[in-house]
Amino acid sequence: MSTTGHVYTERDVSDFFDQTLQTYLSFWDGDGVLHTGYFAGDADDDYRAAAERTSDILAADAGIDGSSFVLDVGCGCGNFPIHLARRFGCRCGGLDLSAERIRFAREALTAENGLDIEFRQGSVTRMPYETGTFSHVVSQDALCLVPDKPRSHLEIHRVLRPGGVFAFSDFLQPKKEIGERARKHVYDRVRWNGGYSFVGYQAALEEAGFEILLARNLESHIRQTYRVLGRIARERAEATPDASARDWMLAFSESCAEIQIAIDDGEFGWGMFVTRKPGNATP
Ligand SMILES: C[S@@+](CC[C@H](N)C(=O)[O-])C[C@H]1O[C@@H](n2cnc3c(N)ncnc32)[C@H](O)[C@@H]1O
Repeated sequence: MSTTGHVYTERDVSDFFDQTLQTYLSFWDGDGVLHTGYFAGDADDDYRAAAERTSDILAADAGIDGSSFVLDVGCGCGNFPIHLARRFGCRCGGLDLSAERIRFAREALTAENGLDIEFRQGSVTRMPYETGTFSHVVSQDALCLVPDKPRSHLEIHRVLRPGGVFAFSDFLQPKKEIGERARKHVYDRVRWNGGYSFVGYQAALEEAGFEILLARNLESHIRQTYRVLGRIARERAEATPDASARDWMLAFSESCAEIQIAIDDGEFGWGMFVTRKPGNATP
């Protein structure tokens, strides 16, 4: 729930990600990558390399290879499926609520040669795929935004084959009570109602029928992500001639400082989870 008591709907979330595509492209990442980085150490401030490392860790943990059929839910601009198809030659699907981000993903795909990827616009709560289609479902920093999380878990379980793997990173809400500043700078900023704690997430996944294979609590990496992005936004703001883009970047940079305080206060976190749908895997 927002500071004003408003509960964000899927419509609020899709409007936000449609409307902010160009702004994010201008300072976060020009290719549309929009997830938390896994940094090599305290001195590492290469966001793009860290974001790619997150993708590689998830792919390795999930056991993705050339025979996999992978769906990325909340794929945004499509970078993760494109990265996986390039690296492993696997077949991929990408689904996102935002029509603008799916348009961007499809355009990015036309610049690639022979990758077997299909991008669709839609919600993870009502997926346009047959039951038991995918060997893997992956996701990066998207599922927290779904208002009806149990529904999205059941849908992911449905579209996975028996023995299939669901591997993802996501934002965490480590404690129940969230102060007004964290609510404003962390939650309302991206139309996020709230999420699970590290332990609570695993319970919710088990409730939906998944077996937990691996869970990583990675708060230091999300703190570093916002430290690095806050600096980038400040530098870009100084160089941009467009007054409204400059104001947005400066406000974001200010939020980055608040986000780090929220992490230290246990109001925001990040984790990776690898789970499995029980059953025997079939090729
Ligand atoms: C923080 S962005 C992450 C994008 C992408 N995973 C990446 O790593 O760059 C979150 C994405 O989740 C998408 N999203 C939010 N709710 C969704 C839903 N119910 N179904 C599908 N996508 C959703 C948003 O449209 C947005 O593109």
